[in-house]
Amino acid sequence: MLDQLNAEQERFLAALPEIADEDALYQLQVTYIGKKGSITGLSKKLGKLTVDERKAFGAELNRVKKAVQAALDGRREELREAARARDLARVEDLTMPAKRPPRGSLHPIRIAQRALIDTFRRMGFDVAEGPHVEHANFNFDALNFQPDHPARDMQDTFVVDDRRGSEDLVLRTHTSPVQIRTMLGRTPPVRIIAPGTVFRCDDDATHSPMFHQIEGLYVDRGVTMADLKATMIQFTAAFFGRSLDIRLRPSYFPFVEPGAELDMQCPFCERAQGGTCSVCKGTGWIELGGSGMVHPAVLESVGVDPEVYTGWAFGFGIDRMAMLMYQIPDLRQMFDGDVRFLRSFSN
Ligand code: DAH
Repeated sequence: MLDQLNAEQERFLAALPEIADEDALYQLQVTYIGKKGSITGLSKKLGKLTVDERKAFGAELNRVKKAVQAALDGRREELREAARARDLARVEDLTMPAKRPPRGSLHPIRIAQRALIDTFRRMGFDVAEGPHVEHANFNFDALNFQPDHPARDMQDTFVVDDRRGSEDLVLRTHTSPVQIRTMLGRTPPVRIIAPGTVFRCDDDATHSPMFHQIEGLYVDRGVTMADLKATMIQFTAAFFGRSLDIRLRPSYFPFVEPGAELDMQCPFCERAQGGTCSVCKGTGWIELGGSGMVHPAVLESVGVDPEVYTGWAFGFGIDRMAMLMYQIPDLRQMFDGDVRFLRSFSN
């Protein structure tokens, strides 16, 4: 039995130097001195020995186990030492800059929208909102559109299919219904802007089926068109950082009377003579959008007495404002979702 013990120990000692990692070392430990290990197993035979033999063999068995354990511990320490040395010997440039995770950025339209909101808030306007899916009544009727007005035509309006065949819900075609929602909820004075997404069945180089507007509304006693022009002059000064001329051209919108197209002096050429500016195409003016004095019928539709209150409103495109701010030539680039385009706005 002693021979057997010595043979196991020899086998163990021969295997030990071949061990290259701690996992294998653990396996070796299990094989020899684990619960069911070959050396541990020899203790089962103790019962067959005489008392003296048992004493002697037991002592020998313990000695070998201890020696095996010590050899295992020594080898484990060697392996760890070698691993540590390998780690230290690794040549890495710790001064190399880390890779930065890619950073998102705001869309140019969102940047323009925030800048517009900022400017109008500083001028005392509150921000109002309305839903994208709007009652046809708020989008048209309450705004004094007659039932046969061409803008109600299916060509321009996305009608929401409510499965009952009615045309009561539409994707709002402009931000003007927010005028109705705001005035229904309170009595004047009302001084709000309403930025947001609007939708029309339109798709070419200068029109997208989804675009953005900002509505303005000011209703109080004694509000006049002069207030509108003064507010716009103040707005452009605050937004572009210098005084720019404002021009009103007669126009028609069912919810204002009188109605006007509102133009601002081109901030890029400041109406320089010669007419070569590509932004205003040499006209010296940039069209911001529609405006006018709120129609008495609109005030009546929301329960505001037009004999007591008057007000003005405007509706501008935000997308074109962003194109002006960043000199973006094609509207479609805004909505392509090409990251190379979007990346140029990160800061
Ligand atoms: N809602 C009009 C449109 O989308 C723009 C507009 C014109 C808004 C005149 C107004 C306004 O508030 O007074 O074409």
